[in-house]
Amino acid sequence: MIAPVRWEGDRLVLLDQTRLPAEEVERQYAAWSEVAEAIRSLVVRGAPAIGVAAAFGVALAARQSRATTFDGLLADLEIAMKGLAATRPTAVNLFWALERMRRSCLAHRTLPVDALKGRLLEEAQAVLEEDVAANRAMGAHGATLVPDRARILTHCNAGALATAGYGTAGGVIRAAHEQGKVALVWVDETRPVLQGARLTAWECMKEGIPHRLIADGAAASVMARGEVDLVVTGADRIAANGDTANKIGTYGLAVLARHHGIPFYVAAPCSTIDPALPSGDLIPIEERGADEVRSFAGHQTAPAASPVFNPAFDVTPAAFINAIVTERGIFRPPYDFSR
Ligand code: MRU
Repeated sequence: MIAPVRWEGDRLVLLDQTRLPAEEVERQYAAWSEVAEAIRSLVVRGAPAIGVAAAFGVALAARQSRATTFDGLLADLEIAMKGLAATRPTAVNLFWALERMRRSCLAHRTLPVDALKGRLLEEAQAVLEEDVAANRAMGAHGATLVPDRARILTHCNAGALATAGYGTAGGVIRAAHEQGKVALVWVDETRPVLQGARLTAWECMKEGIPHRLIADGAAASVMARGEVDLVVTGADRIAANGDTANKIGTYGLAVLARHHGIPFYVAAPCSTIDPALPSGDLIPIEERGADEVRSFAGHQTAPAASPVFNPAFDVTPAAFINAIVTERGIFRPPYDFSR
């Protein structure tokens, strides 16, 4: 199984996703601040994978701490959690995982400090294992939405690489493929960072899933030709009313899918739901650097001083989403995730 985040010995090991598909390079992390930098620089990316990496970041912070009391340890962890929280604003899984680690720490405050450090590592490992289990459950639910000989369009990477393993939207595709139902996956290249071309196509190659890569601008005409049966994407944050933030370009695909009468599905674990946010307009959208847009594969493709707007995510209104698949089952509109 593709394992982008794992613990080995006394370190966190991340598959460097900035180097794929050219090279499979693993990097080792012994300090929380390095994990924060890995999240910021997209070595690890995808909402659930970011959450899992951050949980291990907290476990590393505990191991790094020289505190001898609970209060001292918690103070060190709060510094690390603040640093990890400041890396990427949109995927709520990051904040969900940090909160889970904080709660675990508080719940075990009576343990000796060394035992508490061990407990936090176990908690991070549980976050990882539960993510894989959720993805498999999501895959099983989501595959029931996939007809025989399906031609599925997906955007960005919501596969094994974006999670602790198996994938969300990628997990639905994997499960349907395991059942022999996938004729073709249309893989949007996903400018500007090319998660579709670099990562989803790489996963499809590895797993023998039939796929065809398209430029983002080709999705409309592929739909118009009648060659897409459904669209499935992941999510970075789902508001209580079902509005969903995902990689920039997702909203456009949902509108296109509705125009062409094609079902549009979102697959995400419950850790991606933000019950406290009533609607999608409140989701913070990360803006990334101008050079992601002004260049391509390291080559400048626009005037160096051209002003750029580079939102990393957009919000698809719930009205365009035919179903949201979680590990708990398939939800249909009207959505209410407020509890
Ligand atoms: O900027 P990224 O690569 O972290 O964006 C990832 C996405 O938008 C994914 O679709 C989303 O996180 C779901 S991953 C299961």
